[in-house]
Amino acid sequence: MGTLYVISGVTGMTGSELVRQILSDKSANHHVIGFDNFYASSIQTVQECLDDERFEFFEYDLNDTAQMTDIESRVNALKNSFDETVYINCAAVVHTEHFYHVYETFETNVTGMNAFLQQALRTKAEKFINCSTSEVYSMNSWNENGGVREDDYLTLSDAEHSQRTSYAVGKLLTEFFIKDAVDSGRIKGCSIRFANVYSKNERYPKHIIPFIINSFKENGKVVLLENSRKNRRTFLNNFDSCSAVLALVSTGSALDGTVYNVATDEEITIIDLAKKCAAKMGIKDPVIEFSGYRESDPERRLLSTEKIRMRTGWSPAVDLDKGLDECIENYLALTQKP
Ligand SMILES: NC(=O)c1ccc[n+]([C@@H]2O[C@H](COP(=O)([O-])OP(=O)(O)OC[C@H]3O[C@@H](n4cnc5c(N)ncnc54)[C@H](O)[C@@H]3O)[C@@H](O)[C@H]2O)c1
Repeated sequence: MGTLYVISGVTGMTGSELVRQILSDKSANHHVIGFDNFYASSIQTVQECLDDERFEFFEYDLNDTAQMTDIESRVNALKNSFDETVYINCAAVVHTEHFYHVYETFETNVTGMNAFLQQALRTKAEKFINCSTSEVYSMNSWNENGGVREDDYLTLSDAEHSQRTSYAVGKLLTEFFIKDAVDSGRIKGCSIRFANVYSKNERYPKHIIPFIINSFKENGKVVLLENSRKNRRTFLNNFDSCSAVLALVSTGSALDGTVYNVATDEEITIIDLAKKCAAKMGIKDPVIEFSGYRESDPERRLLSTEKIRMRTGWSPAVDLDKGLDECIENYLALTQKP
């Protein structure tokens, strides 16, 4: 036997790495039903897994009732052949360019997430993992005592400051849905607040790391937001974000409806990040320019990860140096002109 996984947004950065890690575990007979509507990804991210009969992929939309009914039927048909059924909700409108759009973020990130949770409850799945975000900490996303903790009080920016807040507020609401389901004894689960996840497989310069690499490669310089003069961030490799998801899945006692920060404590200024990338690309004295300003962007985002470390034993394995080396090598190979 093994676990039946049902993963939304499966071709995204998190979903696709989850599939790789689940299928690489040959000690049990796991099976993955995954779907994605290619809103922000493509089939290429899971290409290497498509021939594996333990992985079924569907080009489906989380917001399409008929397609989700089909997923539910497939789960009902398969679930008795497995020890447990685990739903993982990765589908979301994530990237900065979209999450200023309140209607899109609400439909997929809030209504879609809750519909997926209700499906998990109907199929009597044992576990549900909800991907939330460290954006919920808004302007209070760091402190001097080892980083913000999950139970620290939140001070949310509102729409007067930035439409971007709709993404964070929507994600915060999903934390209430899963907490309610767990508190009422219907399922085990938790929410995860990821911070700045990156992947060596990113093909498009949407996140800051591929953006910096691409800018140096294409233009010989990088233009950063004015905020970057001060901002510092930590960066979590998606190998580690996914190992955290699976550590939680396999620690039933941790699935108490609460929230887990998942991040590293390796803080770096964005300017130093750019310089580090340039050095690794062999660029001496890199040109770094500044233009534009983003409202409601915290200067630091430093999360305490004591809770997940204590409860599951998880810790990140890929430090920034190793992660950046992999990103640069892969990005340059992927974008090499014939
Ligand atoms: N990447 C980060 O830094 C970060 C940080 C905090 C939280 N998160 C959260 O982690 C989760 C996974 O994010 P990711 O980094 O893998 O993002 P991603 O954009 O790479 O993956 C999300 C996937 O969802 C898919 N999707 C969007 N709308 C859909 C719909 N209606 N139906 C089906 N699929 C749909 C997209 O096509 C994409 O493949 C998200 O919930 C996100 O909010 C990510």
